[in-house]
Amino acid sequence: MRQKIVAGNWKMNTLLQDGLELAKAVEELAKSKKCDAGIIIAPPYTHLAKVSEVIGEVKLAAQNCAAEESGAYTGEISPDMLISVGVEYVILGHSERRAYYNEDNDLLNKKVHLVLSKKLSPIYCCGEVLEEREQGKLFDVIKEQITVGLKGLSGDDMKNVVIAYEPVWAIGTGLTASPEQAQEMHKFIRDLLVEMFDTTVAENTTILYGGSCKPSNAEELFANPDVDGGLIGGAALKADDFIQIVNSY
Ligand code: PGA
Repeated sequence: MRQKIVAGNWKMNTLLQDGLELAKAVEELAKSKKCDAGIIIAPPYTHLAKVSEVIGEVKLAAQNCAAEESGAYTGEISPDMLISVGVEYVILGHSERRAYYNEDNDLLNKKVHLVLSKKLSPIYCCGEVLEEREQGKLFDVIKEQITVGLKGLSGDDMKNVVIAYEPVWAIGTGLTASPEQAQEMHKFIRDLLVEMFDTTVAENTTILYGGSCKPSNAEELFANPDVDGGLIGGAALKADDFIQIVNSY
């Protein structure tokens, strides 16, 4: 059985003290969760070391990392640095990184390989913009993002990869993919994994949905057979909402 996961992407929100309070509240509520989904939070870099001290079974993710191991890359954060403060997952290829920082599939593929070589787990994001959906190009776009972003990985590597499908038009907009739209794309991605790897890899890979997922719609999204949890933005900034989403299973 593949792992169910609910991950909170805090983006560039909260100051350190608020972030610590939020992390503590998530940890506290997580103790009474009613399902077996794993919980991950991805605070800003500046909070990671402190947050890792106040979370128990909640896992820690970074929102990005460098494509290089170490050296003269001013302003960058390496995978080893993340490991040194207790990080286990790294979100890669979020649409905001793709759109505002020009991260393309080839660069992301390099990051995915680097992260895996360090025994960190990438949460690799993909998603189409509204225009691509309207023009019927959505499957081509996702296929390109997945095949190039995960190029050169082995079936063994895939044991540590989480995929997040996040339609860009649904992120932070209040618009959510319908359960049918989410299931359709998740199934497409799983079928693609069969082609790229094999049935076992496809069946065991966790595929999260992201994009305006909230307590009121999480249950119907998570009820789909190929939706294995969520990557949550706005609703992850309130511990109650976030844990309510976790408990939607
Ligand atoms: P949202 O963000 O839940 O605020 O739409 C999701 C994400 O960007 O991961």
